[in-house]
This record gives sequence, C-alpha cells and structure tokens, in this order.
Amino acid sequence: MKKKLFSLLLAASMLTTVLAGCGNTAGGGNTPASPAASNNTADADAGNTDVDTPAPAAQGAGRVGVAMPTKDLQRWNQDGDNMKKLLEEAGYEVDLQYASNDIATQVSQIENMISSGCQVLVIAAIEGDSLGTVLEQAKENNIPVIAYDRLIMNSDAVTYYATFDNYMVGTKQGQYIEQQLNLANGDGPFNIELITGDPGDNNARFFFGGAMDVLQPYIDNGQLVVKSGQTDFATVATQGWSTENAQNRFDAIISANYADGTQLDAVLASNDSTAMGVTNSLEANYVANHDNWPIITGQDCDIANVKNMIAGKQAMSIFKDTRTLAAKTVEMVDAIMNGSEAPVNDKETYDNGTGIIPSYLCEPVFADINNYEELLIESGYYTADQLK
Ligand code: BGC
Repeated sequence: MKKKLFSLLLAASMLTTVLAGCGNTAGGGNTPASPAASNNTADADAGNTDVDTPAPAAQGAGRVGVAMPTKDLQRWNQDGDNMKKLLEEAGYEVDLQYASNDIATQVSQIENMISSGCQVLVIAAIEGDSLGTVLEQAKENNIPVIAYDRLIMNSDAVTYYATFDNYMVGTKQGQYIEQQLNLANGDGPFNIELITGDPGDNNARFFFGGAMDVLQPYIDNGQLVVKSGQTDFATVATQGWSTENAQNRFDAIISANYADGTQLDAVLASNDSTAMGVTNSLEANYVANHDNWPIITGQDCDIANVKNMIAGKQAMSIFKDTRTLAAKTVEMVDAIMNGSEAPVNDKETYDNGTGIIPSYLCEPVFADINNYEELLIESGYYTADQLK
C-alpha cells in the first residue's frame, strides 16, 4: 500500500513537471468496469512481429490496455514507451500492443484487452472508422475508452480524447511558409505543392484545414501557385501516411511540372513521413537541374527528419512532445480509475459523429534550425549524438 502511495505521489510529481504549461479544466467523468474474466490472448499475436507479448492478468491499481498503430513510425514507439513507463510508475499493469498498421490485428488486440480484464483502454486508431464494433463490447463491459492522438469516429463508446491541437499544427505549418516567403508583405508569385496524410485519419483533415486556412488566400490572389493543380484534400492525401506513396506522387508531380527547370519554392507536407517522401523525390528528380531547394514543412521531429533539418533539406517540423501527451493521458486514466473527472480543455472541436468528445489538446510548437537544440536536445528529448 505504502509502495503504491509512493508510486502515485512520484507519478503525480512527474506529471506536474512534465505538464508545466498545460492548462487544466475539469470535464465529464466515467468510472471503469471491474476486471472481466481472464482469457487467453495469444491469438492476436500469431505471426506478427510488431506485437508485444500480453502482460499477465490484472492485479494492483488496475490494468490498462494501450493500443498503438505501428512500430514503423518513430513517434508511436515513443508514445507507447512513455505511457507504459508512467502508467507502471503509477501502479498500473499495462497491456501495450502494436498492430503493424493492420486494422484486423488492432481489433483483435482490443478484443483481447477487453476479455483479459483491462479497465481502461487507450487507443491510437489505425483507421478512425473501423473500431465501432469492438468498442461496443468495451461499452457493454463498462470500459471507458480514451482516444489517443487520433479521434475514433462514429462510436459512442469513446469517453475522452487526448491529443495535440491538430488544427494548430496545420496553422503553424502554413504560417511558417507565409513568413519564410514574406507573403503577408505581398511577395510572390511562388510555386507550392501540397501533401497531407491518410484520408482515414481524422487528424489529417485538421492539419490540412489549418494550413489551408492560412495559405488559401495567397493561392486565391496568385501569390502562391500550385502548378500541379492538385489542391483538394482527397487528391493530396497519402494512404497510410507512407513515405513511398508520398515519393511516388511527387515523382509524378515533378516530372510533369518542374522537369523543365521551373522552380518549386515550397511544399506543405503535413508530417515527417510524407516530408521524407518529398525529399527523396526531390533528390532523385529535382536537384540535378535546379539550384534551389524548396521550403518543406513536417511534423513529429523524427530523428531522420531533424537530421534533414540540420542538413538544410527540411525547413521545419512540428514538435509534439510525446512525453506531455502520455503524461496527460495517464492523468486521464488516473481520474477515471478514481471515479473523478478527467482534465479536458476543449468541449467543442471534436465531434466523432455521435457527439462532441471532451478533449485535452496539448500545444504543438514549431522546430527549425534556430531552435531545435533547445527544444529537442536541452529538453532531454534526444541526445546530441542521436542527431549526428
Ligand atoms: C499523428 C501524426 C503522425 C501521423 C502518421 C497522425 O495521426 O498525429 O503525429 O505523423 O499520424 O503516423
């Protein structure tokens, strides 16, 4: 008991440190179910290298299921690790699973979490619309669900949403381009191309919408020109946020519009995996007959992209400190487990099709060559060696 109290106090003091700067507003609460009967969970893992071995059955402060989309992208590994560490420090048992970006695997992992006695589920959905049926089971078992980073759509089983302000991510990317090209002072015309993320990820629409709210007026008045003509969300979306898909689309755009030496001045890319595809394409198709390198935006501050930033190949990335989001989510879990109200600071933005989901939005910041050392190294997020 003393040990648990100490762990909770320790976790609480860590949360206070990590969360400095995050506001606090009370929101609606929900009480967790008592553990359901334990079941064998081995099936979901068969033949899947991207999946952790399930943790033993529930005991102690409670058992929390954490479903992450994939280990392929650096950020989800950090999200999962941070959450597991903080939850365990707070006395919880954690069933952390990665689903290789495969929807059926994620569904079956969540089924196993429910049947093995998880009392709260934290889920970063692979596809926002595909968890309705499995989450019905969570609801029937009184298991609250926290949508993590990505909103789970069309399910009334979602209790809370913990994320970064996704619209703000987009506006910061748009504003970065606006400032670098001095658009507010009338400079231009400049050539720009656009690329965003997976159409099934609700976040992608917020990122793209936020950026376009800044950039569209300059497209309308001719200061920005999209030579490919590709500007609508469906056309600029990238299935699976895949670097390869992004590169293929840009290979086609460059050969059709810029192969004659026309200069591309900027690329709005919604995240680092798509920015990487753009960079790869420019290296293969653009550098040989151009003497400029466009401004490219990104998001996540993945190590490979920060290295590109240092090398001058990517102008900026959005830094979403996964430590902060994980800590806020653990605070939500704690509130749920204690039957109290979880912290939320937004009750109007995120309607998942069944109504507004009370949300906590953490604040993203931009990183570029001028501030990355302070943001990423001095804060202890990366070591200087990792970025060499
Ligand atoms: C996340 C981004 C991430 C993208 C691809 C989005 O839902 O918010 O941080 O880059 O998914 O995984």
